[in-house]
Amino acid sequence: MWSPDSWRGREACQQPRWPDAEELKSSESALAAQPPLVFAGEARRLTAELADVAAGRAFLLQAGDCAESFHVTGADAIRDKLKVILQMAVALTYASGVPVVKVGRIAGQFAKPRSREIETVGDVSLEAFRGHIVNDEPFTPAARRPDAARMLTAYHQSASTLNLLRAFTKGGFADLSRVHAWNQEFVEDSAMGQRYAIIADEIERAMAFMRACGIDLSKEASLHEVDFYVSHEALILNYEEALTRQDSLTGDWYDCSAHMLWIGNRTRQLDGAHVEFLRGVQNPLGMKVGVDLAPHETAALCERLNPDNTPGRITLISRMGRDVITDLLPGHIEELRRRGINVVWTCDPMHGNTFTTNGDVKTRRFDDIIAEVRSFFAVHRDLGTWAGGVHLELTGDDVTECLGGGRALSESDLALNYTTMCDPRLNASQSLDLAFQIAELLGDRYGA
Ligand code: TRP
Ligand code: MN
Repeated sequence: MWSPDSWRGREACQQPRWPDAEELKSSESALAAQPPLVFAGEARRLTAELADVAAGRAFLLQAGDCAESFHVTGADAIRDKLKVILQMAVALTYASGVPVVKVGRIAGQFAKPRSREIETVGDVSLEAFRGHIVNDEPFTPAARRPDAARMLTAYHQSASTLNLLRAFTKGGFADLSRVHAWNQEFVEDSAMGQRYAIIADEIERAMAFMRACGIDLSKEASLHEVDFYVSHEALILNYEEALTRQDSLTGDWYDCSAHMLWIGNRTRQLDGAHVEFLRGVQNPLGMKVGVDLAPHETAALCERLNPDNTPGRITLISRMGRDVITDLLPGHIEELRRRGINVVWTCDPMHGNTFTTNGDVKTRRFDDIIAEVRSFFAVHRDLGTWAGGVHLELTGDDVTECLGGGRALSESDLALNYTTMCDPRLNASQSLDLAFQIAELLGDRYGA
């Protein structure tokens, strides 16, 4: 029997050791009394759109910060992140010829799993920094103390972020002509411009063609608005449980903290608390597939999380590394195919390609990222399956966190503007470089 709190009977990895049970309870009840952030109907619509991805009729672009920060609350960061994702989506939509499902890692991506639960400096040991939904970065007892009231701050920040996203995506900011004009500016300024100009020019011609045919582009709602969904890793189960609601229409349970939730590489134990919680909510689910998961385990997890094999319910996000994806991914695809398990396949080319440089600065090479994406497409082409999407860590800011890209950032550039709270993100121009290169791969897929 599943209930929103049945996970409490299982072992839950990566949870803070909340120091004060009363404090925790009062935050949980305060959260439970708040309105939902998303509605069941929206989550169902996303599942249906992901079912199209699973069937090879759409492509998924899931992207955003590694971790959101309580200190970054203004409109500009949200606007710029959305802008990049929309720019990428236009190129991908044109190149693939199918709808691009747009999902942000945003409006709730506040928790981080850690390789060590405790951090020790000298002879002081403190709780690791687990993201702003739990504690704070400075290495002091006060900052590192898990503070349950932070879950309420996370909720309110998610609500204001989502509110702005809803306004931007329905209020004219996402207008196709406008997003296309931004892409043209990018192409003009880009070192790779020549290559990308071809795609940008074709989009220009497609729009001119529609106008010439008598379609008034300014009157077509679908050209001004986009559906934009939000997602985060379902890590802190007290938070997720408190925002879980029963849909009055269907009687089904939904985790109303986000449209889509994913289960991380460190919390996907078959009998663990995270799998127990997520199997009972009807949101579309992502699951990271790393190098240490065997194909039969992937299959068992899919069966546990999606016993009815509903298309669009499960998105598998492989994060293997550029050198091993070609060896490891086919085994998973074949095992699932053998069992008739229906999933969306997407590629996270970020997390398997992280290394440290300049002492202890985490970074990633643009070339490794694109290499993993290329291999992902090649594996699917060989097996005759649909390379369904990409999952990226990026920001709209001009950061210097990943190496390479059109502007060829070097190791000595990293210090210029390295602001991530956790993993290194692609900056706006690297993200667009990547999108145009993926657009070329998608074009090839159609023999163009
Ligand atoms: N509404 C369509 C879509 O979401 C077309 C569209 C309008 C669009 N504005 C966009 C696509 C911005 C990508 C980016 O696909
Ligand atoms: Mn990350």
